Amino acid sequence: MRDGFQIEPVFIPTDKKIDLANSLSRTGLVKIEVTSFASPKTIPALADAEQVMKGIDRIDGVEYAALVPNLRGAERAIACDVDELNIVVSVSETHNRANLRLSRAQSLQQIGEIVRFVNDQAQINVSLSTAFGCPFEGEMADSNLLDFVAQTIDLGIMRLTLCDTTGMANPAQVRRLCLAVFDRWPQLSLTAHFHDTRAMGLANALAALESGVVRFDASLGGLGGCPFAPGASGNICTEDLVHMFEEMGGCTGVNLEKLLLLARQLPQLVGHNVPGKIINAGPSSRRYPPPELCNVGASQPRLAGTDTSAIDPR
Ligand code: COA
Ligand code: ZN
Repeated sequence: MRDGFQIEPVFIPTDKKIDLANSLSRTGLVKIEVTSFASPKTIPALADAEQVMKGIDRIDGVEYAALVPNLRGAERAIACDVDELNIVVSVSETHNRANLRLSRAQSLQQIGEIVRFVNDQAQINVSLSTAFGCPFEGEMADSNLLDFVAQTIDLGIMRLTLCDTTGMANPAQVRRLCLAVFDRWPQLSLTAHFHDTRAMGLANALAALESGVVRFDASLGGLGGCPFAPGASGNICTEDLVHMFEEMGGCTGVNLEKLLLLARQLPQLVGHNVPGKIINAGPSSRRYPPPELCNVGASQPRLAGTDTSAIDPR
């Protein structure tokens, strides 16, 4: 919900956000990033963070997370009893200044302050934006990322997310970097966060999975994007990701049918179509009636009816 809604131009009513969080809680997802405690002037779409966080019904077994850009955001998140603070910082100096108006060194110092302030009242995850490339600076050297991971871990952080903010990652790079991180820090709780800007999102997720990553950020319907990264577009789509992993024989613990029911409500909620594929195509288990032979002067079989005559997989 955080990445999904932060870039939407039309404000989604608070009660609708609460309803969606409550419904997502019942799909089997283990973590929901509900909102962001950013400056409401910077991210007006999520200006109702307190109301949403306090308005949701919490379910055992689900972690409720929120993005935190600075100490002020951490204070607000702790006041709302957030389970996990997701602190954002960019591997690219230029993107960090565009997004947070701080140098990377200032951001790292601030993460230290937040860790001391939180003092075990909540979990802390650090999301490393532009980990695979920056729309301003271009390619990020592997050593640049690994040094940054090391500096973050030195601050006591053991939950890290590698974020491909504008879809610049490719599967070979994802494999190389995830393996390098696990090689140095096998105990790290690593999450992968991909955007499908260049149609490599699911391929990157698969490369991360094959490199040992078992936690993925994704967004219902494939919404999302960073408002301070030129060319940003949606995250990989939650229901498409669940569908792929389940089709491969994996067990995500997430109920695809429930996700699809929610995803189908999104176009009305956000006022435009969403990029997800399974929402339109249906899962691979979808079946259609075989074509009926039309014997009135034609030798070719013709498809009976339109798409609406398809057998509903549910
Ligand atoms: N929550 C609420 N208000 C905040 C805040 C927070 N976390 N951080 C700053 N503010 C307020 C300040 O009180 C100040 O308010 P005022 O104008 O009424 O005095 C105003 O915002 C500016 O504060 P300042 O410290 O000068 O911050 P800034 O303008 O340099 O903005 C950030 C810095 C980090 C707050 C802002 O850029 C931000 O929220 N960025 C988040 C970006 C993001 O979420 N990107 C998408 C995720 S990748
Ligand atoms: Zn993102």
